[in-house]
Amino acid sequence: MTTLDTFKTNDYSKINTKGSFTFSAPSNIALVKYWGKKENQIPANPSLSFTLNNCKTVTTLQYESKAEKNVSFDLLFEGQPKESFRPKIQKYFERIQDLCPYILDYHFTIDTKNTFPHSSGIASSASGMAALSATIIALEKLVNPHQTEDYYLQKTSLLARLGSGSACRSIKGNIVVWGETESIENSSDLFGVEFPYEVHSVFENYQDTILLVDKGEKQVSSTVGHDLMHNHPFAIRRFEQAHENVVKLKAVLKSGNLEQFIALVESEALTLHAMMMTSIPYFILMKPNTLEIINQIWKFRETTNIPICFTLDAGANVHVLYPEMHKTEVQDFIENELSKHCQNQQFIHDEMGFGIQSIVNL
Ligand code: DP6
Repeated sequence: MTTLDTFKTNDYSKINTKGSFTFSAPSNIALVKYWGKKENQIPANPSLSFTLNNCKTVTTLQYESKAEKNVSFDLLFEGQPKESFRPKIQKYFERIQDLCPYILDYHFTIDTKNTFPHSSGIASSASGMAALSATIIALEKLVNPHQTEDYYLQKTSLLARLGSGSACRSIKGNIVVWGETESIENSSDLFGVEFPYEVHSVFENYQDTILLVDKGEKQVSSTVGHDLMHNHPFAIRRFEQAHENVVKLKAVLKSGNLEQFIALVESEALTLHAMMMTSIPYFILMKPNTLEIINQIWKFRETTNIPICFTLDAGANVHVLYPEMHKTEVQDFIENELSKHCQNQQFIHDEMGFGIQSIVNL
């Protein structure tokens, strides 16, 4: 059985040198939502996501060997010092140091940039933690090159999870499951796995346009939201429902039945927000324009019969999901109608992607 101990790197050599690695990692959008966690970033329920392609973080890790053993790093955002990221990255290194003791032998300079607009309100923690973890594993391959490619990929996902839960679903594959559940073979609480079953061609290159409804700082962070699932009056039933929804979605992904797909995905999104609204204390992250957009999507679907639907993350923004064959009509509708309800008319067209990529430094 794969346990956390499987991923402890005890044998490694110290490379007395410096160098760098650059990786890009995409964001992902959950269809079955992760909301609620146990100790050590173990999810309270399984989740399933589509990997995205255009919303990416690109991270360069420069490493330089040093004599003393400790966590030591400088942080840059687009080449400029960015101290506000430090607490999160410090916590990440502390969480991974038992699994990756070699990190203590190096000083790191971490330079990050995003392909999506600054302060667009899009959570960059999934792509950011996935990209950083990819660079750490590239270093591990140098100091301990004796593992299989599968091991390194699983460990990349595991490290990403310790940075931010949803990040573990941004490493490999276009459809990813995270969280142990009976219906998905080899699923794990420790890392994300590629959805291992047949998928209907209607889902190939599925489209996701992200409507930027509110770019402000969220009033309640995901961390606080997850925490409020402890002692939540509906938590136990919700966690069971997520397992059931993975079973249903597995069948829908095979059959290509978009009516059932839409019903499940929209229900998951509204259930996530219902959990927020019924937490104690309760909170609301949707804005009036979130609801306006949802209503317009429903109206458009009814009048055109085009199978578009929405999902939401932990914020006011709306993800519009649709098959590639309807791209032109849906993107016209978004540009002409839905964009009016976005902050500064901003939206980002994205689509399914496949995970991390190594970028060779020239
Ligand atoms: C609503 O992964 O941001 O987007 O593990 O605390 O970093 P942490 O939380 P995070 O939570 C994401 C929640 C979600 C649903 C999802 O992506 O599954």
